[in-house]
Amino acid sequence: AVEAKDNGSLYRDYAEDRNTKAQDTTYTTSNGAPYPHPYETQRVGDNGPLLLQDFHLIDLLSHFDRERIPERVVHAKGSGAHGFYKTTDPLDDLSLADIFQAGKECPVSVRFSTVGGESGSHDCARDPRGFSVKFRTEQGNWDMVANNTPVFFLRDPAKFPHFIHTQKRHPATNLTHADDSTIFWDYASQNPESVHQFMVLMGDRGIPDGYRHMHGYSGHTFKLINKNNDWVYVQFHFKSKQGVKFITQEDSHSKSPDYSQQDLFHAIERGDFPGWDVAVQTMTPKQAEEVWEKQKINVFDLTHVWPQKQFPLRKVGEFILNENVKNYFAEIEQIAFSPSHLVPGIEPSADPVLQSRLFSYADTHRHRIGVNYQQLPVNAPRVPVANFQRNGSMAFYNQGSRPNYLSSIEPISFKPRAVDLDKTHAHFIGNAVTFLSEIRPEDFNAPRALWEKVFDEDAKERFIGNISGHMANCTEKEIIKRQIGIFREVSEDLASRLEKATGVKGYPGIAGLRFNGTHNGMAKDSSLRAAN
Ligand code: HEM
Repeated sequence: AVEAKDNGSLYRDYAEDRNTKAQDTTYTTSNGAPYPHPYETQRVGDNGPLLLQDFHLIDLLSHFDRERIPERVVHAKGSGAHGFYKTTDPLDDLSLADIFQAGKECPVSVRFSTVGGESGSHDCARDPRGFSVKFRTEQGNWDMVANNTPVFFLRDPAKFPHFIHTQKRHPATNLTHADDSTIFWDYASQNPESVHQFMVLMGDRGIPDGYRHMHGYSGHTFKLINKNNDWVYVQFHFKSKQGVKFITQEDSHSKSPDYSQQDLFHAIERGDFPGWDVAVQTMTPKQAEEVWEKQKINVFDLTHVWPQKQFPLRKVGEFILNENVKNYFAEIEQIAFSPSHLVPGIEPSADPVLQSRLFSYADTHRHRIGVNYQQLPVNAPRVPVANFQRNGSMAFYNQGSRPNYLSSIEPISFKPRAVDLDKTHAHFIGNAVTFLSEIRPEDFNAPRALWEKVFDEDAKERFIGNISGHMANCTEKEIIKRQIGIFREVSEDLASRLEKATGVKGYPGIAGLRFNGTHNGMAKDSSLRAAN
């Protein structure tokens, strides 16, 4: 009779897999059977056809045929590493999140990326950079899926897929906007609320010098909730301890396509661990009403920033990246960040773009990786997961023999809800997005400050060179005229320099212009420049 023994080692450990060394390995087929030689195919006789019984060959080819998962629809080219976060300045007065309490720390995994290009595209593209951090806290994983710019191209989420299509290859020519910039400027010149972000993109910060030399910004407003159910609005900032550096358009041409990957990987290999401070800007609900009334800044509108003089940064903690990945596919390609992966004490705000992202990321993960994407080692929380989700493709961890419904016979325990949702969800302010997103005079204040106060003379020259160079491939004069009209609302100086550089006379302003899907509120204001 067979003796019953402990089956404890049914599954292999992820850590063991990750640290496997070549010399400990015996070559096997996928069912674990040793196979004498990888370069060996069974055939009939010396010159005959192959055999269906050759599982080794079928196993090898069919797995190879399925090696790729769909690349991310945006942010496909990326690099990442692991590290550690520590709270240095507790935020316990504002948030009950465990990770913000005194002395708390947790492992982090970070993925940096460009946005528009495919997975093999150039690291030095003029593009925003993604900056995603997975905080592996004791209350589950908290993802901050940020960019290296504080503002964004749009404030109405219905525009996002259209905007992204203009950054991708043309459906007919299969060329990018580097070859034909017409659709790029067509979008920009139809959507003036994007002008701040396009100026950041065309300015020096448009090509950061690797991922270590850039900041990260939530862009969106979130909410922090404390033990008493009081809440504030919050924006998160990651401040690079390495400082900010950029690469000019000219220099970018001489760089390797994997420049940022090389820079990050080698810095960590030589022990030069990059680090970032984590800081917050906060605003009470009352202050949010006031900045809307007085300054027309809507906290749910991520095309606008919160002035740092008025809402200073408060440092909370810092993280460093001290470990390169051992297996890029397992640890970076399959990592799945989502703004909806939140922990108690951090909540989303009503920002409509954020609200759409709460849906979109987990939706794409189910498509890109599979319904059980949270069970993959790199995504799995450090803490036990217990719910009634079962089965589905690749259900590796299927929660054992526990009942798969809310059983009264074998009950599972519940933690009381940390926040009073009735109280925290009561406030809505301003009109960030109405049916048709409206362009207002204050949309040009920050871009004007960027031109007049932030850019020095050399930076202005580079900016004009970057834009006129890019517009040289735009085949429609009308688009350039409209875009110059938008830049004229920012600054007459900027518009006239651009007219000189492109040889195109732009519109005198945007008051008389109509935009696709965007309501031109400026047209109502008779004090603005008359239309052409
Ligand atoms: C990636 C959707 C706006 C930052 C993605 C992905 C989708 C997506 C589908 C691919 C995720 C994956 O395959 O794992 C959207 C939608 C948006 C939006 C629908 C607006 C309606 C934004 C904004 C930011 C942002 C405003 C930053 C403030 C990122 C980053 C990634 C990403 C950093 C890469 C994540 C990673 O490293 O895996 N986005 N996005 N996105 N998005 Fe967005």
